[in-house]
Amino acid sequence: MYRSHTCGELRLTDINKSVQLSGWVQRSRDLGGMTFVDLRDRYGITQLVFNMEDNAELCEKARKLGREFVIQIEGIVIERSSKNKNIPTGEIEIQVSVLNVLNPAKLPPFTIEDETDGGDELRMQYRYLDLRRNPVQEKLRLRNKVALETRKYLDSKDFLDVETPVLIKSTPEGARDFVVPSRMNQGQFYALPQSPQTFKQLLMVSGFDRYYQIVKCFRDEDLRADRQPEFTQIDCEMAFVEQNDVLNMFEGLIKHLFKTVRGVELDENFPRMTYAEAMERYGSDKPDIRFGMEFVNLTAETQGKQFVVFDSAEVVLGISVQGCSEYTRKQLDELTDWVKRPQIGAKGLVYVKCNSDGTFKSSVDKFYTEADLQTIAGKANANPGDLILLLCGDLDKTRKQLNELRLHLGNALGLRNPNVFKPLWVLDFPLLEWDEESERFHAMHHPFTSPKPEDIHLLESNPGAVRANAYDLAMNGVELGGGSIRIHDKTLQSRMFDLLGFTKEEAQAQFGFLMNAFEYGAPPHGGLAFGLDRLVATMGGSESIRDYIAFPKNNSGRDTMIDAPSPIDVKQLKELGIGLG
Ligand code: AMO
Repeated sequence: MYRSHTCGELRLTDINKSVQLSGWVQRSRDLGGMTFVDLRDRYGITQLVFNMEDNAELCEKARKLGREFVIQIEGIVIERSSKNKNIPTGEIEIQVSVLNVLNPAKLPPFTIEDETDGGDELRMQYRYLDLRRNPVQEKLRLRNKVALETRKYLDSKDFLDVETPVLIKSTPEGARDFVVPSRMNQGQFYALPQSPQTFKQLLMVSGFDRYYQIVKCFRDEDLRADRQPEFTQIDCEMAFVEQNDVLNMFEGLIKHLFKTVRGVELDENFPRMTYAEAMERYGSDKPDIRFGMEFVNLTAETQGKQFVVFDSAEVVLGISVQGCSEYTRKQLDELTDWVKRPQIGAKGLVYVKCNSDGTFKSSVDKFYTEADLQTIAGKANANPGDLILLLCGDLDKTRKQLNELRLHLGNALGLRNPNVFKPLWVLDFPLLEWDEESERFHAMHHPFTSPKPEDIHLLESNPGAVRANAYDLAMNGVELGGGSIRIHDKTLQSRMFDLLGFTKEEAQAQFGFLMNAFEYGAPPHGGLAFGLDRLVATMGGSESIRDYIAFPKNNSGRDTMIDAPSPIDVKQLKELGIGLG
């Protein structure tokens, strides 16, 4: 028997018990005639004590233990004279009588403690060591709990967990596919699923009615803090449902998860907002509604005062920042530099300070009278003490830039409390978006998303104005999930493919299987998918999903621990019929 207890288990009530423990040496200290060792496993840390007077040989052996040695001990639980209130086992220690070194260890490249000295790259390379650290394990425990509670909830609602294949034909979710060459079908490739979209729709045609899967998805796209090339979805689909049925079901799931996993009661009814409204008020389709600072359109109020920059702009948009009228020149310059960075791309930033004494000071005083500034402040709902910040340009870009500035200020002013959770359904997304590069419409979600019935007549005449039965769940500025009510009718689906510029042959070659299935009795259906990594990271109060994935990839899509991707053998290439140029 390696152990009778774990390293997180023993308490004062266990005094005088004879125990065996196994684990890793976190650190050891020699104090006079005593050697103390912190023994760690997944459950906690227990202090071991070796006494020179009692057993000099054993004490000498303990002194030779290095960090991360794997050991097993036997001993007696005793009360500590100096107690450590910071850990659950802090009132006891083990007086060791037997010490077995199960495996010595090389000195780890960084300290394996809650606070580590290892940089990101190093910890990624030795991820298996980083994963020994409690704060990292805590994140994976959270993930496990979320997945478990998801299964419990969906099972209680009659959802069936059905696995779908990984070697498939391309699923269009807007990113590039990862492809896998086929040895048995040379010159042909499988694609890894960007999501199980078409399969879950086929399962509805098969009568499964309620499907879910916690499933890996693969997308070859530029990576960010909230994007990984392989990530996990809680993927769901339901038959015989309308939009409200889907929203209610998954609002229930999210409430269940927050309650059971975090002990947080979310709003009784999640607020809902149309995409158009979200863009107008926040310049984002995933607004962080934990704080105000909503956009105001100041185009009318700023025109015709000889300020060419505003006069020539499509829009002038502003936000009012509460209590910041005393920002110094330096702070304002810093904000201006911040919005001018290439990542944001604004040309400049105009400010209006609403001083506490009721006067105004702005960077464009030359063009605007006190009365003009008063009008601007009135429209912006700004009070004495507030600071109005304005950006201008074309509508889409200005919204994007002001959204970034709003979030930046939200962070700087501490308005984005990671322990406050504000969900928001964003509804009625546009069905299509114009792509400048290919000069075509693309499906904003995917080509199986149904248009709103009242907008179908616009499909050919004004495609950009057609709204979709599509919805996203945003929380704290993160898109947690999204879905739609699907097209279940072959004629409408092929009209959609026409609009997206597929020839009949291309549509048949790529999606024939789905369109054919729709001819055999497809029920009305819809669903959604949550990004599990994002959901867990948000619940953990983090914007980065990497820490919540056991073995993540870095920003170049590399796993530096196993060194992938990597070249393959010439023999393997030959078998696959692939020659590298
Ligand atoms: P969508 O493409 O919106 O919808 O994806 C659903 C959710 O998956 C998460 N997500 C990601 N998470 C981490 N890294 C990525 N690269 C990444 N890409 C997406 C997001 C997103 O909201 N088949 C549809 C769903 C449906 O219509 O039912 C789909 O995949 O949280």
